[in-house]
Amino acid sequence: MRNCDGHGPVLRSDERILLSRIHELPSEELAIYRRLNPERLPKHVAIIMDGNGRWAGKRSLKRFLGHQQGAEAVHFVVETASRIDLPWLTLYAFSLENNLRRPRTEINFLMRLLSTYLTNNVQRMNDNNVRIQYIGRTHELPNEVQERMQWASEATRQNTGTTLTLALNYGARSELVDAFKRLHTEIQQKHIRLDDLTEQDIQRHLYTAHMPDPDLLIRTSGEMRISNYLLWQIAYTEIYVTNRLWPDFRGVHMLEAIEDFQRRERRYGGLSDGSESDDVASLPANQLVNS
Ligand code: FPP
Repeated sequence: MRNCDGHGPVLRSDERILLSRIHELPSEELAIYRRLNPERLPKHVAIIMDGNGRWAGKRSLKRFLGHQQGAEAVHFVVETASRIDLPWLTLYAFSLENNLRRPRTEINFLMRLLSTYLTNNVQRMNDNNVRIQYIGRTHELPNEVQERMQWASEATRQNTGTTLTLALNYGARSELVDAFKRLHTEIQQKHIRLDDLTEQDIQRHLYTAHMPDPDLLIRTSGEMRISNYLLWQIAYTEIYVTNRLWPDFRGVHMLEAIEDFQRRERRYGGLSDGSESDDVASLPANQLVNS
């Protein structure tokens, strides 16, 4: 429970009292935050970080400098997420397709950048009460990268604020394939019957089984596509696309996206509040369709 203006002590359901860090927001971010309805903040924001290459190209720089700037943007956004006490932030950092289709030199650079990001940011994550975890076929990443990843997740495991999830070597279709393989094993071992399968059975085998579905998906750099990201989980997620390239994206832009999100009406396939259903039950069947 948050007090009505979203400031001051915050009482969580587990009865721990956390001190609000809203006052740490830079003034531009605070101005937007104050316009938000604290009762309708998203619990989970997922981001497709796109446009590093174009950012570099516009400045006649090599692509790797765009990625380097992109890694800088990550820490700004994570900091804002932690200050507004966003429970879940999930970033698409490296897709299975990136791994298959990009030149080896770029992949190697992204791997080194990830390791450096983790090394340089664990202290900052601890200062911000941020826990880091990963989704994707991370066992296929280079061993030294996996070791760094494990080190960072262990070093931040005790944190109780924002959970930062990096999607690495991630693809939503392969996530579903992995889920179906595990379900198949359960069926073979007769823990569950095929006829009894529900959506929850699939959900609990996803990499994100322990997480709520994203409320808001942000994509930078203007492309209107999902790029094989969290396909199952975004069934009812609100989508926000900005032309801003990822290296220029900051916490203030995430807050703008949240403000836009709060203007949306989420209906989950139902009707809006207050709209009345037409009485069609009494209509003869031959009048249901115009001839
Ligand atoms: C898209 O840019 C972005 C990526 C390939 C991955 C995102 C990587 C980062 C933000 C940097 C490293 C991240 C961490 C967590 C350290 P693009 O190259 O596809 O851009 P383009 O479409 O303009 O070419």
